[in-house]
Amino acid sequence: MKNIFSEIRKLKKEKGALILAHYYMSPELQLLEKDGGIADFIGDSLGLSIEATRVKAENIVFCGVKFMAETAKVLNKAKHVFIPDKEAGCSLASSITAQDVRELKKKYPGVPVIAYVNTYAETKGECDICCTSRNALKIAKSFNSNELIFIPDVYMGQNLQGVLEAETNKRLILWNGKCEVHEQFTGSSMNSIKASYPEAEVLLHWEVPRETVAAAFQKTKGVLGSTNDILKYVGESDAKQFILASECDLGATLKNLYPAKEFITPCIKCQHMKKISLTNTLQALKSIGTSNAVKYEIDLPEDVIERAYLPIKRMMDFV
Ligand code: 13P
Ligand code: SF4
Repeated sequence: MKNIFSEIRKLKKEKGALILAHYYMSPELQLLEKDGGIADFIGDSLGLSIEATRVKAENIVFCGVKFMAETAKVLNKAKHVFIPDKEAGCSLASSITAQDVRELKKKYPGVPVIAYVNTYAETKGECDICCTSRNALKIAKSFNSNELIFIPDVYMGQNLQGVLEAETNKRLILWNGKCEVHEQFTGSSMNSIKASYPEAEVLLHWEVPRETVAAAFQKTKGVLGSTNDILKYVGESDAKQFILASECDLGATLKNLYPAKEFITPCIKCQHMKKISLTNTLQALKSIGTSNAVKYEIDLPEDVIERAYLPIKRMMDFV
């Protein structure tokens, strides 16, 4: 393990590359280089998009899933963006195509379309603006229109609708995409963990089903929101125990940040995020500047980049 870490660090220097890693990576990929690991930056999907616009390096190795690496490429078309496994997908991103959005727009003419960033670049290109879990609410509120199309996460849409209803007259028209990880947190699984940890507070990502939210907040405090909201909430809460209803390895991030607190989770992992390993990260780095790079480099047609740029750029104004 020690050798692969130092080999990756050495190659990053030689190849002029930086590593951006999502909070859902396995713990060994979450360690920053300054702490003996390999990552230069770790963050949520919005944090990684912001960082992608700041990096000076010629090459970015993206330890996350493909839609995230594509976003980095759209924001930095002059740079080379690599992903250690191009098969690292996402059930939300694959639930909707650009053609589906075109049909939605025909069905609801003039209604603005907000695309969760968990979509592919071609799909984003058909939308008015993108959002991440961190700025979805702010972006929805920013529109004058009372009708908005929100794609593709139906549960996140219903949860956002719950908040919007209390404060505005806005109605979201939803797609039926689901995160295959967050949909597994059910009301009954929440109730049984809560029964074992009555003092614990709950941490729920926007992507969990509505009935899970209802069960979780029954007589229990906590937060429903983005990955960033979850991290912030734990920092500000006096509670010692938390039930995490989000990707299992976010628990590693939380434990690193708050070692004195306890995080209980059924540990549901995203199979797509887990396709990224130290081994294929090393291979991706090795490929830079060789004919093998095509295996790892994000290569989007120029017109797809152009169309996806504006909706992504608009999202970046809501940080
Ligand atoms: P964040 O926007 O919270 O980083 O979420 C990414 C994701 O894939 C959630 O499942
Ligand atoms: Fe997609 Fe869910 Fe995996 Fe996030 S956790 S990448 S939304 S499948």
